[in-house]
Amino acid sequence: MSKTHPKLYKVLFVCLGNICRSPAAEEVLRVRAAAFSPALQLEIDSAGTYSGHRGELPDPRMRRCGQARGYVMTHRARPLQVRDFSLFDAILVMDDNNYDTVCRMAPDAEAREKVLRTADFLTGEYATKSTIPDPYYGDMADFEYVLDLLENATDEFLRRLTTCS
Ligand code: 4NP
Repeated sequence: MSKTHPKLYKVLFVCLGNICRSPAAEEVLRVRAAAFSPALQLEIDSAGTYSGHRGELPDPRMRRCGQARGYVMTHRARPLQVRDFSLFDAILVMDDNNYDTVCRMAPDAEAREKVLRTADFLTGEYATKSTIPDPYYGDMADFEYVLDLLENATDEFLRRLTTCS
């Protein structure tokens, strides 16, 4: 995250399939940013390192868990593209595999510096966690846990974004 944030700050969340974690993060940040500071101008999107779910809505399990917390997820999955590195100010990944893949795609050092780990924003009881784990082969508790982590991390992201200018 740069020391000074422009008026409009563009954030891209990235996971593997772009149907569970990153579309959830996108909506969690959108909703919490509006509550945190209505004046904050964010452009938020998400993408996947794997293109196999292109065009799909988020996984129904994630949509159901999100809906219960007030997050309506309507994103359509899309693969990460090289041009995303110039379109976005920060690219927040979910796990080490995402981090390695996205860094390999970065066209230069400046682009690589935009790649951040969502887990690095975790605080409190989650501060020691180093990943937002993939819930795809898990149960509903795993999806709830992802939302718990994302709510925690996005709140800290917003705090840092608005206090580092
Ligand atoms: P996501 O979860 O990366 O959080 O969207 C996954 C979605 C699909 C697959 C793996 C993880 N998959 O193997 O198809």
